[in-house]
Amino acid sequence: MNKFEYLSIRYDGDDKLEVLDQRKLPDVEEWMLSNSPSDMVSYIKQLSVRGAPLIGVAASVALYLHVKKGGEMTREHIIETSQQLRQARPTAVNLMNNLDEMMQLSLPEAERDYSVKRLASIAESIIQREVDMCLKMSQLGAQLINDGDNILTHCNTGAIATPGMGTALGIIREAHRQGKRIHVYVDETRPLLQGGRLTTYELAREKIPYTLICDNMAATLMAAGKIQRVFVGADRIARNGDFANKIGTYSVAVIAKYHNVPFHGVAPWTTVDLSCLSGKDIPIEERAAAEVQGASGAFGNVRWAPAASQTFNPAFDVTPVDLVTSHILDTGIYTQEQLKDNVLMNFS
Ligand code: MRU
Repeated sequence: MNKFEYLSIRYDGDDKLEVLDQRKLPDVEEWMLSNSPSDMVSYIKQLSVRGAPLIGVAASVALYLHVKKGGEMTREHIIETSQQLRQARPTAVNLMNNLDEMMQLSLPEAERDYSVKRLASIAESIIQREVDMCLKMSQLGAQLINDGDNILTHCNTGAIATPGMGTALGIIREAHRQGKRIHVYVDETRPLLQGGRLTTYELAREKIPYTLICDNMAATLMAAGKIQRVFVGADRIARNGDFANKIGTYSVAVIAKYHNVPFHGVAPWTTVDLSCLSGKDIPIEERAAAEVQGASGAFGNVRWAPAASQTFNPAFDVTPVDLVTSHILDTGIYTQEQLKDNVLMNFS
């Protein structure tokens, strides 16, 4: 497999795979070696590697490298390793889709080839496809943005969450690149602050004007007419257009609907899961109490709640299609009416 370098993952073309520790951003840019699939599973679980497209790509490359380094390996071992990677996180379907592609599950068993050469070529095509899809989504979505618009986004959906220019943040970057004068309001995204730590980091790098807000301030901005459009990413889109994304997305969709602000989900078609008939079928990850009881990052660990406090910490929520103005995929922009008409079934 050829050498590559993206904002949060790089491979030297030999044995060295590294990922940027996203937990430490924005102040510390620390690369970590991934020596094995179990390293990658830990990095994904602890959100050093995060974002739906990135975790799929990172797990695929980790699987390839394991086979490359391992010499003689049984098929059973390779299958088991892919299963371990598949289970690193449950909600973003890109992880499962990419690993299923690596394992060639669409082919009859006898035709599946787990040689280093074949796995390298699949992993390379997965990465290139993600880069291309990011570009297409960004160009499509940027058409919706007018000069002077203020945009709200939630979580982080940019170049550190994908191997390309991002999904929702890719659209924002593309509009800015086209010279549109935009301003981005960034939800900080409690509890893990992907907006406050990562989206701000990316926007600052790109010199895109932004204002960071706490999640509970978005309604006040909308009521004041200060938000023209909302773009968010997606971790899994069900057949009917309901979709899972970072916790807090649903609340943004509700307030956007109340204030008549257009609300768009943005994702590659690999985020669509036709086996989920609606959002009710999407598995939602629950995470540790400590994330809600306090915060951690490059600044250290802080706890403000009693250590024994009972918490509720779903990492994602489901936004029903009724609140979606359109989904922007790399294949096109699909309105709520089209989504309700089962347009996503065309991906089967
Ligand atoms: O828990 P995270 O940080 O991996 O959640 C990420 C999101 O919810 C993103 O919006 C989604 O993965 C799209 S990233 C391009």
